[in-house]
Amino acid sequence: MNPIQTLIKELADVHGRRRESILPILQGVVEQEKYLSEDSMVEIAREIDIPASDVYGTATFYSFLEAKKMGKYVIRVCKTITCSMKGKNQVLLTIQEMLKIKLGDTTPDKRFTILETNCLGWCHKAPAMLINDEVYTELTPEKVREILSSYMKKNGQI
Ligand code: FES
Repeated sequence: MNPIQTLIKELADVHGRRRESILPILQGVVEQEKYLSEDSMVEIAREIDIPASDVYGTATFYSFLEAKKMGKYVIRVCKTITCSMKGKNQVLLTIQEMLKIKLGDTTPDKRFTILETNCLGWCHKAPAMLINDEVYTELTPEKVREILSSYMKKNGQI
């Protein structure tokens, strides 16, 4: 077994081998590898015995498919309707201002990447975002500043 096969097997042991397991397994792979390759998606499909197109569909839906390597912390801001109506743009602006990068970019120190994603299933607590696999809800610019500052401190950035 190569390292990626071992990783996917371990993730499947933890998260199960059902359709609902696709997302946590994808998150696990991206967390470890900072990247999702085609080989990994095929391997996930093989490991949990579902069509590769389903893995690809989930990865695309949640924008896990990035052509380039991402930062240590990947911020995914929900862009779907409820979050859009409840201040997603303010959230995004605050993040961009704090990190001094644009949507889709990674900070020069490779710590943070900002992306948008589809509905995270937290519409009742919109607006929502993910930082790696941690969900943050009912965001306001103040709350976002607090959350991001704590991540920046973790890295000794401020
Ligand atoms: S619309 Fe954003 S979490 Fe559902």
